[in-house]
Amino acid sequence: MGAGKRLYRSVRLAASAMGAYRLYEWLLERYVSSGPIPSHVGIILDGNRRWADEMRMPRWMGHRYGADRLEEVLHWVLDLGIRTTTVYALSIENMERRPREEVDRILELIKERSRKLVVDPLVHERKVRVRLIGDRARLPEDVRAALEEAERASAGYDRFFLNLAVAYGGREEIVHVSKEVARMAASGTIRPEDVNEELISSLTYTGGLPDPDLIIRTSGESRLSGFLLWQSAYSELVFLDVYWPEFRRIDLLRAIRTYQNRSRRFGG
Ligand code: FPP
Repeated sequence: MGAGKRLYRSVRLAASAMGAYRLYEWLLERYVSSGPIPSHVGIILDGNRRWADEMRMPRWMGHRYGADRLEEVLHWVLDLGIRTTTVYALSIENMERRPREEVDRILELIKERSRKLVVDPLVHERKVRVRLIGDRARLPEDVRAALEEAERASAGYDRFFLNLAVAYGGREEIVHVSKEVARMAASGTIRPEDVNEELISSLTYTGGLPDPDLIIRTSGESRLSGFLLWQSAYSELVFLDVYWPEFRRIDLLRAIRTYQNRSRRFGG
C-alpha cells in the first residue's frame, strides 16, 4: 500500500472514530473531483417506508422525508457538476399495486414538490431543465399539470437536466417507442432499414440526453425494476445499503468513486 493510500485510510479511520465524517467527506470529495464526473446519474429512491417503520412514523412521512432528501441531493449533484440527473420517483408498477390511499399521497407530494420547482431559485439560477418522463396519460390531471408547469418554467434552460420519472416503466417506454416507430413506418416517414439504435434512443423519453453513466439504488435492493431499461445497457450500477431518507452526501461521493474505479479498471 502506498503512503498516500495509507494516509487516506488512517484519516478515514480517525474521522469515523471521532464520529465526525466531515474530514472523510472532504477527503472523498477531493478524490472524486480529481476523476471523471459522470455526466448522467440515475437514482432509484427506495426505502422510504422501511425507514419510516424504523423511525416509528406513519409510512407516508417516509415519503415526505424522502422528498426533502431529494431536494438536498439536487444541490449536491449540481455542485459536483453532474449535468443530468434522472430520479425514479413513481413506477407504473407501484401505481397499480400499492393501496390507492398511498399512491394518492405520493402523487399529492409530487404535485406539491413540482409546484415548488416552478419557482425554485435553484432551477432558475443553475438553469436546470426539468422534464417529466413517463406515461403522462396515467397521471391525474392536476399532477400532470403541475409537472408540466415545471417543464414549461424551465424549458429554455440547458445547463443541467432533471428528469422526473413518474408513472414510468421501462417496458412501457419501449412500447411507447415501438408505437412511434410503427406510426412513422405506416406514414412512410421511415423504411424498416432506417430503424437503428440512434432512432430508438431519440424516441425514448430521455431522447437527446446521454445514457446514464451511473445508476444508484438505495435500500439494499439489487435490481433496476425497469428503470431506464434501454438506456441502462452500459451503466455502472451501485446498490447502497441505506434507506433513501438517510442518503448522505458521503453516499453519493462513494457511489461516484465506485464508478470512477470501475471505469478506470475496465478502461472505460
Ligand atoms: C420508494 O420508497 C419511494 C417512492 C415510491 C416515492 C418517492 C417519491 C418522492 C420522494 C416524491 C418525489 C418528488 C418529486 C417532485 C419527483 P418505498 O415506498 O418503495 O419504500 P420501501 O422500499 O421501504 O417500501
